[in-house]
Amino acid sequence: MRGHPDVEIVCAPGNGGTAAFATNVAVAADDPAGVVAAARDCNATLVVVGPDAALAAGVADACRAAGIAVFGPSMAAARIESSKSFAKGLMDTAGIPNARWSTGTASDRGALMALVNELDGRCVVKADGLALGKGVTVCSDLDAARQAVGACLDGRLFGRAGDRVIVEERLEGPELSVLAVTDSRNLRLLPPARDYKRIGDGDSGPNTGGMGAMTPPPGADDALLKRVEAEVLRPCIDALAALGTPFSGCLYAGIMLTPDGMRVLEFNARFGDPETQVVLPILDEDFLELLIASAAGTVSPGIARRAMQSCAVGVVLAAAGYPGTPRRGDVISGLDRLDPSILAFHAATRRDPSSRDPGLTRGAAGGAGALRTDGGRVLTLVARGDSLEAATEQAYTALQGIYFEGMQYRNDIGMAQAGER
Ligand code: AMP
Ligand code: GLY
Repeated sequence: MRGHPDVEIVCAPGNGGTAAFATNVAVAADDPAGVVAAARDCNATLVVVGPDAALAAGVADACRAAGIAVFGPSMAAARIESSKSFAKGLMDTAGIPNARWSTGTASDRGALMALVNELDGRCVVKADGLALGKGVTVCSDLDAARQAVGACLDGRLFGRAGDRVIVEERLEGPELSVLAVTDSRNLRLLPPARDYKRIGDGDSGPNTGGMGAMTPPPGADDALLKRVEAEVLRPCIDALAALGTPFSGCLYAGIMLTPDGMRVLEFNARFGDPETQVVLPILDEDFLELLIASAAGTVSPGIARRAMQSCAVGVVLAAAGYPGTPRRGDVISGLDRLDPSILAFHAATRRDPSSRDPGLTRGAAGGAGALRTDGGRVLTLVARGDSLEAATEQAYTALQGIYFEGMQYRNDIGMAQAGER
């Protein structure tokens, strides 16, 4: 690990990228007993629980019960992400600014539909549970809103995650993601970022898990971060502690800066993807120390230091078909020729030992065998710079050298949203 040559990393299950610097073990991230066994096997000093599904499955609880230090909240505290109705209720109780909302189920949808009608369909329909970032439909009229509610409650588009539905007033404004590492009492705020949620340029098409990210979003200065801490993050961790479910790990607030002030759209109980890919490279602090401090209860409060080159832009390269069913198994080429200043974060990639990749399987890309696509979002290419413009240009130049069949990406990552600059 950078800065920690003596640290060994084991990933469950890892991917084609982690294979280059860590040991991948065939254990699902959301299998509590499997993760505890893998941690014991390698005598782990810290388990970092990354994905939402793993937190919701109680992997952090299982590690704590086994006496293993862990970064990540308990299943109960992670409800701030795994149940949108829980999160909305907590926001109202704690006085955290959020959009007007209502909720309902297939057999009890009166209040839900009343709000849809009152808003004339200009609303956002959300599956209550985890849906890989795709459970949100932004609607402009009654037909679309009724259809979105029906798709969840009757069509079961998101399975059990959509058994309960939330409807919210549709807000307008630029978005901001603020991530903070916390030990449940102290908050250390990471550099602010923005996620590009829609599949298409100019924020068109359906929502995805995120098609790119940038830091810093225009106007997101330290004064704004301090307001987010005071009005959003602090009340959130205090309310969770008051419920007897203290939150430690990474608390993520997705915020919209509306003409009427900031409103929280969602909380996540983990590092945001792809925000983290741009936030960590410009962090001028020891990331491992931050993770350990969260687990140990010794987080030092404040705003984390940023590197001199404090702008970063990350473009997600996704497989054909995403955010629907992605095409898998295509060979990815060009990573070995990437400019060394560019970071390539792997998501859905795997090494295929049975086939050779045209002469580029070793070296920078690491590992043996062809690197293949293995799901929707495949890679994030990240460039850093003194300005967003410089970072954006470098990221797009770099991606010209990467290829896989059907590769799709947005052309406007790093650029301002409507009404900015
Ligand atoms: P969520 O997963 O709840 O953050 O929603 C995903 C995305 O949907 C957000 O990043 C926004 O782009 C959009 N969204 C969510 N809630 C609202 C809202 N109340 N008004 C407008 N857009 C929203
Ligand atoms: N970028 C949003 C998320 O990680 O859910």
